[in-house]
Amino acid sequence: EKGNHRHFMAKEIHEQPEVVGRTLAHYVDLANGRVALPETLPFDFRTLSRLSITACGTAYYAGLVAKYWFETLARLPVEIDVASEARYREPPLDRDGLTLVISQSGETADTLASLRYAKSQGQHTLAVVNVPTSTIAREASAVVPTLAGPEIGVASTKAFSCQLTVLLCLAIAAGRARGALSAERERALVDALITVPGLMAEATKREGEIEGLAREVSKARDVLYLGRGTSYPMALEGALKLKEISYIHAEGYAAGELKHGPIALIDESVPVIVIAPHDAIFEKTVSNMQEVAARGGRIILIGDAKGAAAAGLDTLATVTMPDLDPVVAPIVYAVPIQLIAYHTAVFMGKDVDQPRNLAKSVTVE
Ligand code: M6R
Repeated sequence: EKGNHRHFMAKEIHEQPEVVGRTLAHYVDLANGRVALPETLPFDFRTLSRLSITACGTAYYAGLVAKYWFETLARLPVEIDVASEARYREPPLDRDGLTLVISQSGETADTLASLRYAKSQGQHTLAVVNVPTSTIAREASAVVPTLAGPEIGVASTKAFSCQLTVLLCLAIAAGRARGALSAERERALVDALITVPGLMAEATKREGEIEGLAREVSKARDVLYLGRGTSYPMALEGALKLKEISYIHAEGYAAGELKHGPIALIDESVPVIVIAPHDAIFEKTVSNMQEVAARGGRIILIGDAKGAAAAGLDTLATVTMPDLDPVVAPIVYAVPIQLIAYHTAVFMGKDVDQPRNLAKSVTVE
């Protein structure tokens, strides 16, 4: 069932243009250029004073990206925590407020417990899940499915990009309901969303270069991932992906935090993977890259041609991504991030589909 691919993970990475397209078709009214959620939701985005998000692992990072989207596009304050913390912290939650849980399997014990806690507080619960028959899908008051199809590789790839797709559609719908988005801006966002599957397919064409780069990464003992804005959670996701399948120690940081500690680690032996589409805060990230370069750090830039030219830095490599609306960048940039981890692990001879000590679905805490 792996088709022409050596591993499920490779197959699932390459399936993304198709499954993200399918997920989009479910949430976007293409004819009218509007997001159209297929189900009526049992709450009103207009009256929410806050959105609480809980999830684990990669799903949590999808939630972190969504925090930026809900806050900027819908002006909706978001509180987010990993489910294992949220469930025991027992945060005060408003009656009739909204908790959003995100889970590929729909069976993650901590995520389920945080969903049950939210319900016990009288919250509405909305679940972004990939397995429609799962416990979380059954227990949530509403479900917005990701249509990624079965994900077999332990490292989550296509479920993640589909989670991002659904979450961006939700944020746009919330933005419209709350009067935070003009019709014109919504249309521009939908236009950008529609281009995503094609842009992801384009991103997979960088695979040959990434394979070469992976040989460099495989020699490292530690790898740093940096990003700002929505690229910050993408840095966290990149580091998680690399550590879980290659067993190389990797850390993701908000680029602005570099000076507050991690810069002490920088030398020629530490590859620094910078995720930086040419967005409004790109210049800030360039300053951080200069700080890295000044200390002999070897930068791998995942960015676009415009950004690479503007940065004018001597990088070890630049993985050139297509031009895009920065709002949709996380969905497209997921591809090179996953491919770097995949090829590094394959080059090192690791079992990428079944990494040691990990289970696909964590049903015990
Ligand atoms: O099934 P879930 O989305 O609830 O799983 C959450 C995490 O266990 C999962 O994302 C994990 O971090 C993956 N192995 C990441 O690749």
